[in-house]
Amino acid sequence: MKAITVKPGIADYLALREVPEPAVGPGEVVVRVARVGVCGTDQEIIRGRYGTAPAGSDFLVIGHEGLGQVVDSGPAATGLSLGDYVVASVRRPCPHAHCRPCRSGQNDMCLTGDFTERGIQGRHGFLSEYYAEHPRFLTPVPPALAPAGALLEPLAVVEKALRQSLKIQERLPWNLERAVVLGAGAIGLLAALLLRLRGIETWVFDRSAPAGRKARLAGQTGAHFANTGETPVSRIAAELGQVDLIVEATGYAPLVFDACQQLGGNGVLCLLGVADEGSPLTIDAGGFNNRLVLGNRLVFGSVNANPADFRAGVESLAQIEQRWPGLTESLQTRRVPLAEFQDAFAGQAEDIEDIKVTVELAGLTPDED
Ligand code: BGC
Repeated sequence: MKAITVKPGIADYLALREVPEPAVGPGEVVVRVARVGVCGTDQEIIRGRYGTAPAGSDFLVIGHEGLGQVVDSGPAATGLSLGDYVVASVRRPCPHAHCRPCRSGQNDMCLTGDFTERGIQGRHGFLSEYYAEHPRFLTPVPPALAPAGALLEPLAVVEKALRQSLKIQERLPWNLERAVVLGAGAIGLLAALLLRLRGIETWVFDRSAPAGRKARLAGQTGAHFANTGETPVSRIAAELGQVDLIVEATGYAPLVFDACQQLGGNGVLCLLGVADEGSPLTIDAGGFNNRLVLGNRLVFGSVNANPADFRAGVESLAQIEQRWPGLTESLQTRRVPLAEFQDAFAGQAEDIEDIKVTVELAGLTPDED
């Protein structure tokens, strides 16, 4: 079968190749891949900065935002039927007995770092015609939501981030009234969507044009959009007042320190971006310390998502479809056929404002797309 592969550690090696059909383990089902979303992590892997091949392989099948259909449902006990749409989670547990998160199904919180991730760390991903997977790592997607299914993995990442933020804030009497999202890529816009579903005043700060696609999509949900050329991050508190939650979704690490200065008292700053390493920055360490201590502020990072977040994501997709019909379609800015896969990964001029590009494999059955 065809698969899109990289050689981790080697920059710009990206090749469509024939690979063996997946070996189906006990209790696993076979999924035919319909489409796969491309994200910043894939770009990092292609640049050779991230990712590892499975043991014994000199290549890695990339892609971790895969929507597919069950074509071999394995034993009856799986609860899945032929034709069901499913999205697989990404992280698989580490083998260590003392890792309580992994032993309790919360691989997203793995303590040892010895986890694997499909399409990223030590396991092939979903940019192949088929893959095999255990049903416990698959979330069914109702057919009506299948056109939005490629958004489920990044949405689950954001579901987790918000769930964790709200849980953390149980430390005090707290109302989440005003939130700021830094970055209007897929993660940033999905964060804004979830905040708006909860009726929270939401501001999206991004460098894209105030009349551009991203600003327009944010606006459709009732979020406010601010162009950072006009209103820099350093003006947030002065312009908006108390900000209870900031979600950092640009992956531009210096913004973490700027955002901290703008966060309101008792507020929480949630970091979702993976940044380039090796760029030292001079900061006022005492000022940073005091900002946190003297205002009970909290900065935390969040990665990946667990099965509950995927299920929450399906619920949210249903609500989003109902409230803003067509919006999830607009977030998927380009569908690229497999044969033209290079286009899906090519860097885009900023004015194109791509949000989520997908590579089409089997595609969706016609009446669902
Ligand atoms: C994926 C996560 C993954 C993370 C780090 C992200 O792009 O969405 O599932 O844990 O990369 O590898």
